[in-house]
Amino acid sequence: MAGNLATASPANDTISPLMALDAKLTLRSIRGERVVPLSAFYTGVRRTVMAPDEIITDIAFKGLTDTQPSFFIKSALRKAQAISVINITVILDLDGWQVSDARITLGAAAPTIIHAEKAEDFLKGKTLGEAVIEEAGTLTAQAAQPISDIRGSADYRDYMIGVITKRALTAIMNGGDKGLVPDEPVLLMGDGMYAQKPKVPWDGKEIHTWINGKEYHFKTGFNKTLLNLIREDAGLTGTKEGCAEGECGACTVFLDGRAVMSCLVPAPRAHGAEIVTIEGLQEGGELSVMQDAFVEHGAIQCGFCTPGFIMSATKLLEEKETPSQAEIRQAITGNLCRCTGYYKIIEAIEVASKTQSKQA
Ligand code: FES
Ligand code: FES
Repeated sequence: MAGNLATASPANDTISPLMALDAKLTLRSIRGERVVPLSAFYTGVRRTVMAPDEIITDIAFKGLTDTQPSFFIKSALRKAQAISVINITVILDLDGWQVSDARITLGAAAPTIIHAEKAEDFLKGKTLGEAVIEEAGTLTAQAAQPISDIRGSADYRDYMIGVITKRALTAIMNGGDKGLVPDEPVLLMGDGMYAQKPKVPWDGKEIHTWINGKEYHFKTGFNKTLLNLIREDAGLTGTKEGCAEGECGACTVFLDGRAVMSCLVPAPRAHGAEIVTIEGLQEGGELSVMQDAFVEHGAIQCGFCTPGFIMSATKLLEEKETPSQAEIRQAITGNLCRCTGYYKIIEAIEVASKTQSKQA
């Protein structure tokens, strides 16, 4: 998270909520230590007050109370692995239904994450209602100085800031996040198995890991990604590299039970972990139910994206035996296919789910 904050990207999703929470950073160097409010940390696009010899050693903020409803909404070009076109965090302090304090921060709306100060001031002392929410939306949009880029035009951003501000405030007025947040979101974490600590201590000399149940001791590859360790050092080339930057999902593998994009994971993270790749889904030399369904239903053309889709879909069925079509779509939002189209892929996952539940 510290690295994430230090990137100082104006479209960063972590800065906006932490700034609304009035987070403070501790910066340390051999010269000493200083505490800087996050709101004073940024000086421009990808620029901060941090000196070259300083590192962030602490991020502190107070937890929210029952009278502080909050909302984070992000608008992006798709639902996973996407950079914000715009994001907003709203935190209100409520006294009954009257707003005693408000914090509204905006991402991808200016050179740095900003507070919508006029809207914050306007909300103080008001009771949430349609007219108040409308005005707060207008004032929040006025705080923005967005740019046009490949993700969206400045006009679109301006418009959407008003829209999502009103959505957040309306949700708070209605007492919750009804309809905005799924009760049980698809997480692709399977049954939740997650090893917090390596099973074997790290001595810096080897990456000791288990891939598809087989034990490996890698003496090299410490500077690689997990994807390259799997392909180049373990020789398992089923996992593909599409983009190498976390956009396409072709490199999806399971790391300690979670679906991860292996192009974003440093190879040493495999130390003491259990990894499953597309090769590990076969059972007794037979294709898995999901692999079979993809073949049978023509959910493949060039096949480059297929291992990633199958890994995500397999993890989905571990989480939800009979997912709805919306849940299937949600599960594969992090996977891109450039040639099959998605209908056949969704159909194959539906069939695999039915076959698996019949077998269970
Ligand atoms: S190669 Fe990893 S997400 Fe595209
Ligand atoms: S089948 Fe070719 S990219 Fe998906």
